[in-house]
Amino acid sequence: MGFADRRKRLMSSLKRPLLLWSGGPISRNYPHNLFPYRADSTFMYFFERPEPNSAALFDPATGKVTLYLPERTLDDAVWHGELATFEAERARHDVDAVRPVERLEDALKALKLDTLAVSDARTTRRARALTGADLDFDDPLKVGPLEVLESIASMRLRKDSAELAQMRETARITLAAHVEAMKDSAPGVHEQELAGIVDGIFSTVGCVPAYGTILSVRGEILHARGHDNVLQAGDIVLLDAGCEAPSGYCSDVTRCWPVGGPFTAEGGDVYDTVLQANLDAIAAVKPGVRYRDVHRIACRTVADGLAQMGLLKGSPDALVESGAHAVFFPHGVGHPIGLDVHDLEAFGDHVLYPGGRTRSTQFGTRYLRMDLDLAEGMTFTIEPGVYFVPQIIRSAALRAQFADQVNWSLAEKFLGLNGGRGFGGIRIEDDVLCTASGAEVLTVAIPKARAEVEALPLLAS
Ligand code: GLY
Ligand code: MN
Ligand code: MN
Repeated sequence: MGFADRRKRLMSSLKRPLLLWSGGPISRNYPHNLFPYRADSTFMYFFERPEPNSAALFDPATGKVTLYLPERTLDDAVWHGELATFEAERARHDVDAVRPVERLEDALKALKLDTLAVSDARTTRRARALTGADLDFDDPLKVGPLEVLESIASMRLRKDSAELAQMRETARITLAAHVEAMKDSAPGVHEQELAGIVDGIFSTVGCVPAYGTILSVRGEILHARGHDNVLQAGDIVLLDAGCEAPSGYCSDVTRCWPVGGPFTAEGGDVYDTVLQANLDAIAAVKPGVRYRDVHRIACRTVADGLAQMGLLKGSPDALVESGAHAVFFPHGVGHPIGLDVHDLEAFGDHVLYPGGRTRSTQFGTRYLRMDLDLAEGMTFTIEPGVYFVPQIIRSAALRAQFADQVNWSLAEKFLGLNGGRGFGGIRIEDDVLCTASGAEVLTVAIPKARAEVEALPLLAS
């Protein structure tokens, strides 16, 4: 579907005029030093490569779309290069008219219109002043009118062929980055060097990291921020990295591999368990299946594997029922992905937990980021993991709650493995498309078979 077709679909769902905003760049420290501009995802869904500080009015009474762009100035031309004329932009976007965004308030103040908050707070303030709506991008209940959010979400959740082509391309670039990081891993290498290699590969093809690249031997920190460690033999590297293309579409992939030799016995057992959970969850994907049930399948496989290792006690079903598996797998199996890494998360649980579904209150499962019935065209991640988090394993409350279901002394031993560095954690994350016949794994080419992730790293310094 082209951008104009998407706009037509949105228009047909509207009861009132809708004003969308691209947002503008955000200042780093002083106003003229800016972070790279990244347009609002919904705006990117309806307009290809939108200009900063633009807006678009959808008027269902006339069926017309008007794009509002900044006036072209001499300063622009001198400092950043001349911008295309309004007429060229009208033709490029195939909209009905282009008008100056500076005069938007004068043109629209008499209209009763809906609008959405965007991440750029300056633009959201402008939207609030224009409409009087109580908008706040940080509060999903205040991003915009629920029926508008639902219309947009129903479109964005199911990807068309153009979107999938973009996502396949980001998967291809992510493959190159992950394989290079694996190959360059060896005892003595700094995490920062590997993170730089990953981000550099993204950059050489015009992409950016879709989120701060997570590369750490401290895999038990789910979203570890720093890259301060030096790899040692016996470590497991966790790389959670994806790229975002100029179109806005992205990937989100996690792979893990051992440093300085094959996995230890414990490492291999945990790796096999996580990989099996990843494969079992992927095998469960098909239209009509509830995502929460995909999560449960991953939890069950993790519980089964950890019970075989002696870390958990009881049947896998009983362990998942009580939530004991979450001592080692304390997050959800994944999330939608597309223009946002956590696609549509800003719209909140009313679109991702629809129809009165609510989040579990259980430790771990409460982090499940969506509970939709899967449908053809949906893209989401499948990312089970097993982690040895000292703060969990030493939690008096969890020890009391799962006194009979967790082998706490064995778990404690994992904290002392690898010369006292601890086991860390393992996650295996793929980006998956739900097709009529089941899952298509968009990131399937990125090595995850145990033999491959053991063979690719340099085995000695
Ligand atoms: N990379 C963030 C996540 O996996 O959700
Ligand atoms: Mn993810
Ligand atoms: Mn990830």
